[in-house]
Amino acid sequence: MGNQAEDQDLSRRSAAIHSLQYLEPKMKVGLGTGTTAEALVREIQVRNLQEELDLTFVSTSTRTTKLSESLGLKISDLSEVRWLDLVLDGADEFDPDLNLIKGGGGALLQEKIVASSADSMKVIASITKKVDVLGKFPLPVEIVRFGCTSTIQRLDELFQFSGYSYSDRAMRNSGGNLFITDEGHFIVDYSFQEMNNPEGLEQAINQIVGVVDCGLFTGLCDEVITGSRDGFVEVFD
Ligand code: 5RP
Repeated sequence: MGNQAEDQDLSRRSAAIHSLQYLEPKMKVGLGTGTTAEALVREIQVRNLQEELDLTFVSTSTRTTKLSESLGLKISDLSEVRWLDLVLDGADEFDPDLNLIKGGGGALLQEKIVASSADSMKVIASITKKVDVLGKFPLPVEIVRFGCTSTIQRLDELFQFSGYSYSDRAMRNSGGNLFITDEGHFIVDYSFQEMNNPEGLEQAINQIVGVVDCGLFTGLCDEVITGSRDGFVEVFD
């Protein structure tokens, strides 16, 4: 592993380990998606916390479910559990108001459903995800497959008329094919520069017919725990 990859690994792991202190007996917990969430899942397993604390877990993706189950953790269905105490998830960017861009791992829809079903959402991330203004990371928009070209045209018009000019737009690919989300949709990634009104933009995007959801998470996260390569942890709330 190169130095940069090792640094990232240490940063993620220190944030994940710090977040374990939020787990209390009998809690119902949502497990996020991505490499940081996976570091968390591994720490939970190594410390045998599901059994020790009698925790119920709900997953945000097939990917997280597979890893968790392969490590012997039991994953329950959100529809049965219904309400969660806490969700611990990663993010691609966070700003000083704890607005997020998520969806780099393609699980934004399930992540938002799980986060919206929890008393508290805490993000664990490398300090490199902290930005003053959201927008450098491409914004994922999940759209239904039917009529996707028309939906993209309506998105383009929205951005044009609301002054959000993007420098690039790309359909998400995976292994040479169009990426299909766990719920059977496409993702289109928009590269902006800065998003000055993430809340308004999230609402406007999500009103477009054919859009399922976008990777802007505003008003959902109450704390971000960051780790850095030297193991230093900071909490933003
Ligand atoms: C997946 C996500 C991830 O939480 C986000 O992409 C961060 O991933 P990582 O922890 O690998 O940096 O939103 O849809």
